[in-house]
Amino acid sequence: MTENGFNMNEMKKRILSGVTPSGFLTIGHITGALKNWVEMQNEFDSFFMVADLHAITTRQVAADLRQRSLDTVAFFLSAGIDPEKSTIFMQSHIPAHAELAWVLSCSTGMGECQRMTQFKDKSAKNVDNVNVGLFSYPVLMACDILLYQANYVPVGEDQKQHLELTRTLAQRYNHNYSDTFTIPEPFIPKIGGRIMSLQEPTSKMSKSDVNQNATIYLNDSNEMIIKKIKRAVTDSDALVKYDKNKHGIANLMELYSIASGKSYNDIESEFRGAGYGDFKQAVGESVAEFVAPIRDNFMKYRSDKKLLNEILELGREKAGREAQKTLRKVYKKVGFYQL
Ligand code: TYM
Repeated sequence: MTENGFNMNEMKKRILSGVTPSGFLTIGHITGALKNWVEMQNEFDSFFMVADLHAITTRQVAADLRQRSLDTVAFFLSAGIDPEKSTIFMQSHIPAHAELAWVLSCSTGMGECQRMTQFKDKSAKNVDNVNVGLFSYPVLMACDILLYQANYVPVGEDQKQHLELTRTLAQRYNHNYSDTFTIPEPFIPKIGGRIMSLQEPTSKMSKSDVNQNATIYLNDSNEMIIKKIKRAVTDSDALVKYDKNKHGIANLMELYSIASGKSYNDIESEFRGAGYGDFKQAVGESVAEFVAPIRDNFMKYRSDKKLLNEILELGREKAGREAQKTLRKVYKKVGFYQL
């Protein structure tokens, strides 16, 4: 067993996950996803994707999207993804994603997509652009996973509902056309699976929040991180105690626990009798120290475009081969005439 409780006999099983390059990455991407990817890549056949097709479900400036897609690859590397162990690729480089999405969307109910909370949230936020892509986004996400026959999908809590739909669609297809897809399981961390906004701690921290103080970006300076945490919304109890209903404090304790490795009990003892000011100072310093190496390595990788392109070229070949295998099976089973 490893630290995360994985059985070593599962070594050859596969994982797939992705990040949508619709903004700069935040500390939530590390705690909810990349931290686990880094650990899991040692034991699983790993595929990590920049989900650029997903990004255009909201309006993007083309030049920014191109830059951010490469930023995202550089962040994968700076967080510790090793291209020798893992396959890193750009979703739009593999046409099979869009092709399978058409097939699966023909067996997905309108009601199934309508129920997705992320669709409801995002369509409420983008009332002038509630497009069909935003609606069917979870079908594309299901295809991302099913094309690679992934066993586990390491994600944050907000993706749980999409994973449930993925499982339903895969089971339905297997039932209608015989076994084709591996049924994937989500892998969601117990701590860090849902980091909340610093300004509105009942909502998820998001890369696209208009309030810059709400989000810790991975390129924030140490001073900026400390300042944002000092300004974080808490409560008036002045009691450092883990309680899910003390949203702001629980969130800061979660961040502190991840950044420092201390348990909630340790943290409560450390700040017994102290005020929120001392606590926030310690959280800020610890989180800044946690983010600093990721930020510094990001600069190094991002300036090496040749390396990033080579990694993506390899990824396109390997991911393309795997995806094509599944797509061929699907086309045959649905009855498309093949030459
Ligand atoms: P995205 O880009 O919104 O987020 C990428 C990953 O980071 C996690 N995450 C968080 N975890 C904890 N706290 C937060 N505040 C936080 N913010 C983000 C997300 O849960 C996610 O794991 N649809 C996906 C991308 C995607 C994908 C896939 C993922 C496309 N296809 C197939 C897995 C498998 C998305 O937009 O994630």
